[in-house]
Amino acid sequence: MWKIEPPLKNFKGKLSFANISTLNLAKQFGTPLFVTDSEQIILNYNKLYSAFSSHYDKFKINYAVKANNNLSILKLFNYLGSGVDCSCPEEILLAKKIGFKNQDMLYTGNYNSNNQLDFALKQKIMINVDSYSILPRLLKLGTPNLVSLRINPGIGGGSHSVLVFGGKNTKFGMSKKDAVDAYRLAKKSGVKKFGLHMMTGSSILDSSYFKKVTNKLIDIAVEIVDECKISFDFINIGGGFGIPYKPPEKPLDIKKVGSDIGKIFNGKKSSKILGKPWLFVEPGRYLVADSTILLTNVHSIKKSPGKYVGIDAGMNTLLRPALYNAYHHIINASRLNSRKTEIVNVCGQICENTDIIAKNRKLGNIKEGDLLAILNVGAYGFSMSSQYNTRPRAAEVMIHKRKIKLIRRRETINDLIHGQNLVTWFR
Ligand SMILES: Cc1ncc(COP(=O)(O)O)c(C=O)c1O
Repeated sequence: MWKIEPPLKNFKGKLSFANISTLNLAKQFGTPLFVTDSEQIILNYNKLYSAFSSHYDKFKINYAVKANNNLSILKLFNYLGSGVDCSCPEEILLAKKIGFKNQDMLYTGNYNSNNQLDFALKQKIMINVDSYSILPRLLKLGTPNLVSLRINPGIGGGSHSVLVFGGKNTKFGMSKKDAVDAYRLAKKSGVKKFGLHMMTGSSILDSSYFKKVTNKLIDIAVEIVDECKISFDFINIGGGFGIPYKPPEKPLDIKKVGSDIGKIFNGKKSSKILGKPWLFVEPGRYLVADSTILLTNVHSIKKSPGKYVGIDAGMNTLLRPALYNAYHHIINASRLNSRKTEIVNVCGQICENTDIIAKNRKLGNIKEGDLLAILNVGAYGFSMSSQYNTRPRAAEVMIHKRKIKLIRRRETINDLIHGQNLVTWFR
């Protein structure tokens, strides 16, 4: 059973979000519409920050921009004192536009081109190198002040096989042996400062996983320090902190994660050999996923074979269900008190059979014209959306203490043809 909890509220049988009527939002801005509650982001940030910093004071959060790159959301993270983890030069440019300082930006790419490396080098931001062969190319372009390497510690986690980034059969990170060679090369080339990085999986709800993988990373760090005679300015344990998407999943015990990791960093082995490096994390999902709902209208219901509820949001708006069968809870915002339930499939309007947002889902009585709210879409929601099937992307709204702002307007046909040059050959 899903409980309606803040920022969701049952207001006379209709759904409100961050104290604003979702029906009014849909009427004012149209659907599909992403609605973000800034206060939920602030809550998540503070919870994560205090979970770690109360055990280890040299702690920093670097928000993973890829989860949701809306400028207003970046602005909020900048205001909160967060750094950013960027996966490409374009994300670095967005962060710079908002005012993030060089020292607050990480660049974690993979299989980077020389142009991308050169760009990051010129920005003087911290670069996480993903594989050995990238390093000599980077050093040929210049000598960065700091080099950080992404380690594959040999284990990975994640709510779905495609969300496992560490261990065997993943394209990310390097072995300890390659890292030792790379740090030696960097040191010989004049690099003075070093960092260590891992990112081994996403959407993880088991707190013990973070303890296990961080212990492994620290063991590797100690060996590297011993073999390369370097010290680490920071050790970055990545993101991957999950949120409960599907009942009866329970929230990640972030306090336990913070205290476990704090103990590891304060432990004898770590503090004796590693000194006191900064502890970095770079979460996306944990900070933004539950801050946002997607409002969508039911346009058409087909009764047989099977019951299909057709909405105006599809795999073009929210890709995660089609991409890896991700679960997103759905609420009938128009009819919260409806007692009647039935099993339905909720689908979009895209010409693909994978365009199903929910399969065999028990939902309250749904009628054409109803407004549905799809929950927990703040991470990898809009950022994974596309214009496939010639669909303009959805609008985004932010609510902050009852103030409402359109933070990205709905796309139009002009956005769909923007940048195209029509040939003059076919007259
Ligand atoms: C390098 C890197 N850092 C951070 C993240 C954020 O992960 P999450 O949203 O699970 O915290 C990702 C996600 O793919 C990533 O690839």
